[in-house]
Amino acid sequence: MAQTLTNTASAPLAFDIQPNTTPMPEAARLEAFGHLGFGTLFSDHMAVIQWSEGKGWHSARITARAPFQIDPASAVLHYAQEIFEGMKAYRNAEGKVVLFRPQENARRFNASARRMAMPEISEADFIAAVEGLIAQDAKWVPEGEGASLYLRPFMFASEPFLGVRPAHEYIFCVIASPVGPYFKGGAKPVSIWVSTDYTRAARGGTGAAKCGGNYAASLVAQSEAYDNGCDQVVFLDAAEHAWVEELGGMNIFFVFEDGSIITPELGTILPGITRKSLIELAKDSGVPLTERHYSFAEWQADAASGRMTEAFACGTAAVVASIGTVKFRGGEFRIGDGQGGPVTEALRQKLTGIQRGVLADPHGWVHTVG
Ligand code: PLP
Ligand code: COI
Repeated sequence: MAQTLTNTASAPLAFDIQPNTTPMPEAARLEAFGHLGFGTLFSDHMAVIQWSEGKGWHSARITARAPFQIDPASAVLHYAQEIFEGMKAYRNAEGKVVLFRPQENARRFNASARRMAMPEISEADFIAAVEGLIAQDAKWVPEGEGASLYLRPFMFASEPFLGVRPAHEYIFCVIASPVGPYFKGGAKPVSIWVSTDYTRAARGGTGAAKCGGNYAASLVAQSEAYDNGCDQVVFLDAAEHAWVEELGGMNIFFVFEDGSIITPELGTILPGITRKSLIELAKDSGVPLTERHYSFAEWQADAASGRMTEAFACGTAAVVASIGTVKFRGGEFRIGDGQGGPVTEALRQKLTGIQRGVLADPHGWVHTVG
């Protein structure tokens, strides 16, 4: 039977608010805020919405964060029908909580849903779930530069069924985690490992979708990066093993001595919202920026000749991270003096300034919660 993947409930969902009766004591929360890392501390609540064939989205609630009880035959546990998003809430200079381009996350979530044969959710319901959770957990949005509340919307196939077809039941959920820097070294330039044995995505595959399976397949290459003393892995394309694509969890940019910038074109990579924003910011300042194929061979030659002065990775979790050293089987090279540079720093300042309300927001990217 053909399944309906559209949101059958077109009216905005009403969320039932079920406050956590045993929230984390304030003293413990504030103590934890003193040493924020990435993704280990979680807020008191979660947003949950269910979907079932015929009924569409229903049972929307903001409730105490708690383990799910799911059937061991749930399709996600067998066939990995799962997608997610990553976004951050900031406390701006006026103390207001803001999100950065949340509609972009909602749109990409639905693009991922279509690729994984999952139901779409209206942008309004997606954002209402995120905002409803933030409203309940407002005290979990930390203050200070570099600190934020990382929101993780995700959806998985919960139907108990072992046949291989799109599931008929799904759970959408948003959890929240107060975070500091993604990398242990903080703002220090990162080192990256070029994977020549493994690839992340092929044409026609799921590279442009934010599905958990992409990350599962990247972990062996990420472990190789750690084993070689690197912070992150960078993947080459699957067909020729020649073209630089992206990191395990970030997009990549290259900066040249004439001030121009190159970033790999869309297709098999994740269309990053940070990437898209930095492209717009670079273009605003008149920087010549090209989205195009760039090979590992060119990269080595440009770094060696000094034509490449900076390289950086970017994403919601990591923001903008300078790449200092690049290692691969058979060698390593440094970018510039290995310490980052002014173009990366200027773009980082511009982006974070807008996100935190310190700089003007000419594109209307910042969305005030509530
Ligand atoms: N590429 C991958 C594989 C990612 O996981 C991420 C992080 O979400 C990005 C790129 C950057 O995307 P965004 O800037 O939307 O966070
Ligand atoms: C993000 O930047 O939001 C990501 O999803 C990257 C990583 C934590 C997987």
